[in-house]
Amino acid sequence: MDVNEALAPAVTLKRIMFYIFFIFGCFLIFSSIVFSRQVTNLLKNLTSTLKSALDEISHKKNTINTINVELRRRLHDCEALSKQIRISEEYIKNIIDSISSGLIAIDKSLRITYCNDFVKNFTTEKKIQINANLYKSFSILKNKEIKKRIENTINNKGPFFIEKIPVTLDGHNTILSVAGFPIKSIDEIIGATLLINDITEQEKMYSQMADYEKLSALSQLALGAAHEINNPLLGITSFIELMLEEERDVEKKTKAKEVLDSAYRISETIRGLLNFARPTPPKFTKISLNKLISETISFLQHQPLFKKIKIEKNLSEAVPQITADVNQIRQVFINIFINAAQAMSNSGTLKIITNKVKFEDLIEIRVIDTGIGISENDLKKVFEPFFTTKKGEGTGLGLSISYSYIKNHSGAIKIQSKVTKGTEVIIHLPIRQEAKVQSEVIE
Ligand SMILES: Nc1ncnc2c1ncn2[C@@H]1O[C@H](COP(=O)(O)OP(=O)(O)OP(=O)(O)O)[C@@H](O)[C@H]1O
Ligand SMILES: [Mg+2]
Repeated sequence: MDVNEALAPAVTLKRIMFYIFFIFGCFLIFSSIVFSRQVTNLLKNLTSTLKSALDEISHKKNTINTINVELRRRLHDCEALSKQIRISEEYIKNIIDSISSGLIAIDKSLRITYCNDFVKNFTTEKKIQINANLYKSFSILKNKEIKKRIENTINNKGPFFIEKIPVTLDGHNTILSVAGFPIKSIDEIIGATLLINDITEQEKMYSQMADYEKLSALSQLALGAAHEINNPLLGITSFIELMLEEERDVEKKTKAKEVLDSAYRISETIRGLLNFARPTPPKFTKISLNKLISETISFLQHQPLFKKIKIEKNLSEAVPQITADVNQIRQVFINIFINAAQAMSNSGTLKIITNKVKFEDLIEIRVIDTGIGISENDLKKVFEPFFTTKKGEGTGLGLSISYSYIKNHSGAIKIQSKVTKGTEVIIHLPIRQEAKVQSEVIE
């Protein structure tokens, strides 16, 4: 057996193997082609689905972005709006707080829902609590009339206005005006707003104005009367003075002197009336207050009224010359020194102190006596014209004239006193009144 023969089965096997591999290879190629086609299709499908999904996502992203932009814009608008609202709220609050009337908002159960800063003038409470009971926080409103009107307003009986009503606030008599307005929500009343005003000073001013009107009428009357009395009086005094010179009978002379003294008193009263009703305009010059006080005292201390009185002067050298009407200021000193002496009929001490007020363009003059003093009630009236406790002896014009003279000088005068202890008159006068000064200088 040759080699070829021997290898024939191997060759056959090899061929068979070749065919098998060939067929298998073909099958593999075929199936891989088929499979790859399917995979490619699948991938294609997947890619297109993915693409459309991506498209959709990008579309949605755009939409979301637009929504986001819109939202951000709206948020910004909202922030601007809320800032605007806060500013308006603050502005309205400032307006409400700036009014010099008490404003309180309450709900139907009389609980405070809002109040402005000014209301603290109407309560003794340190802090007004929101939601607190109205009458607990504001006891002045407990007044029967006010309570009734507030409750009526809350119960749909319309707004109210009480023009003036006396109440007690922290122990002081106070006059209030109170108004109330219903607060409505849709058609229902949900509370009320109350407006409170303290009109005590205003009422005082009205009554003062009425007094001034009376006073002005009185001044006119005084002027007329003074004129009518003064002329014949001048004739009477001149005649009695002549008579006194010629009369030798001592008794008649004494009687005539008494008549003359009374006539002088009438004349003095009339001069006072004239000064009050028609004060002459002040003539401003430079004057030395200390010198004027010393001169006035030298003149007065020889009068019988001052005989028993010890006079102490403490006149500061730091007091400069001031711009003033010498006659008016002298008259003020005379009135005040005489009042002091009259209050110390059984001896006493009259102290006069002058000083320059520190850091101010003012001179202070203090006149202190150890006399009978002035009661609290009288002290309120001493500057009123014709107020006097010296029955038959005084006209009650001294202090009212002094007051108007000091006011003419843009100064101030006040009196402190204690019954049986004594009285202190304090005067403040400005040093300079350049616009008013005239050339004359009194040394
Ligand atoms: N220093 C004082 N001490 C006690 N009371 C005084 C004193 N000064 C003034 N008064 C009181 O004030 C009142 C008014 O004083 P005012 O000088 O205006 O009038 P008057 O002294 O009564 O009369 P007039 O001064 O016109 O003679 C006095 O009647 C007196 O009651
Ligand atoms: Mg007097």
